[in-house]
Amino acid sequence: MKFFIDSAKIDEISYALEMWDIDGVTSNPRHVRNSGKPFLQAVKDIAALFEGTDKPISVEVNPHHEVADAMVTEALRLADMSPNFVIKLPATEAGFRALWTLNEKGVRVNLTLVFSAAQAIQAARLGATFVSPFIGWKEANGEEVREFITDIMQIYQNYDFQTEVIVAAVRNARQIVEAGLTGAHIVTAGFDVYKDAFDHPYTHVGLKRFADSWDATPYE
Ligand code: E4P
Repeated sequence: MKFFIDSAKIDEISYALEMWDIDGVTSNPRHVRNSGKPFLQAVKDIAALFEGTDKPISVEVNPHHEVADAMVTEALRLADMSPNFVIKLPATEAGFRALWTLNEKGVRVNLTLVFSAAQAIQAARLGATFVSPFIGWKEANGEEVREFITDIMQIYQNYDFQTEVIVAAVRNARQIVEAGLTGAHIVTAGFDVYKDAFDHPYTHVGLKRFADSWDATPYE
């Protein structure tokens, strides 16, 4: 199971690389805004961190694009900047059309804003490298998510689709575990979600207990 970090902040991404051996990055316009940098500077700085690796960095095209041609033009420009870049396109009709074209040109795409298994099927049919179902948003909307991801995984297996599923908008440790139980290839989550998920209060309680015992015991 691979872990991607959902961020455009260099300090968070560097930490995730050095401490957690993170497998890739997903960014979106909100993350880029939060980095405090202009778009191109933000994505180039991330690319520099990953130079020489084969770890993917998802970079989203301008969300104002309404036609496939505009998405394709921007995608080709971005893809030229770094071999690590994977182009994030929305699961709209134009996004699917752009995916088709980009797949034929050998550009990797992460189909994002996916909220139904039918959208995930179309992404795979058209050759998406990754598909990003947003489980946090669905849960916030009162929808179930476990079956949603399990269905996508089952369908991909039925047809031997090679598209990898990135369980996205993950908000807590339980959702990471649920993603793992579905067999999803990848989880992407924010810095604080991983920090919390890799920790547990009882670990610290136990460590303190053991430290007290250690102090009360002669070494030799
Ligand atoms: C995933 O690729 C998205 O960037 C992300 O999960 C979107 O959700 P959020 O910004 O609400 O966390």
